[in-house]
Amino acid sequence: MRQKIVAGNWKMNLTKSESIALLNDINASKHAENVQMIVFPPAVYLNTLSELNARCALGAQNFHPAEQGAFTGENSVLQVQDAGAEYVLVGHSERRMYFQESEEFLKDKVDAALAHGLKVIFCCGEPLSIRELEHQNEFVNKQLEESLFHLPAAMMQKVVVAYEPIWAIGTGKTASSAQAENMHAAIREMIATKYDQDLANQISILYGGSCNGTNAKELFACANVDGGLIGGASLKTADFLTIANSF
Ligand code: PGA
Repeated sequence: MRQKIVAGNWKMNLTKSESIALLNDINASKHAENVQMIVFPPAVYLNTLSELNARCALGAQNFHPAEQGAFTGENSVLQVQDAGAEYVLVGHSERRMYFQESEEFLKDKVDAALAHGLKVIFCCGEPLSIRELEHQNEFVNKQLEESLFHLPAAMMQKVVVAYEPIWAIGTGKTASSAQAENMHAAIREMIATKYDQDLANQISILYGGSCNGTNAKELFACANVDGGLIGGASLKTADFLTIANSF
């Protein structure tokens, strides 16, 4: 049985008091026991939120792969872990696009996170121009090859993959369940080809991109969709919980 996961990427939203209120609300609400909930708050609030002892795990949206050094403004892999992160996001399209994170740098982030025992949610997904050409599978395969498939099987096992088509992020335009299932099955096949079917069957693959309380049920009903990485809809307790209860 693969782990079902619903993760909230709060991005650069919420104040400290709003973050505390949201996590407390999520913690106090009923949700299915078999779903791992994770939230990725702004890094400056990780420490405070880790003191709430929530049932929901905490993750870092970003970190620098070095343990320390002259990288003004960055938080190191050690620092985000020390502040309470159990998970990290790597390869989110906003980091690739706005902060020019290269495939090579993402590879370093994956390695650093796993070396420190952090769990990686590795994001991949194609832009609209690639989808229109129907080259999305090749595009995603290249992203996995360049930043993830160097891992030995024992490390790969600890990774969660999130498929997030860029044209669906924050646009209100979600992938259809058929589009999501096709890509998730293709990703599982890529992992099986690179490693083996057993390992591929164990890896949770999440869908991200305008997933909300209305479409989550249909998306999560797909055989290869093991949960979601939620942006906008993770900022409201009711929406996030509806999604977490959509399996
Ligand atoms: P969205 O964001 O749910 O707001 O589309 C998803 C993400 O960027 O992870």
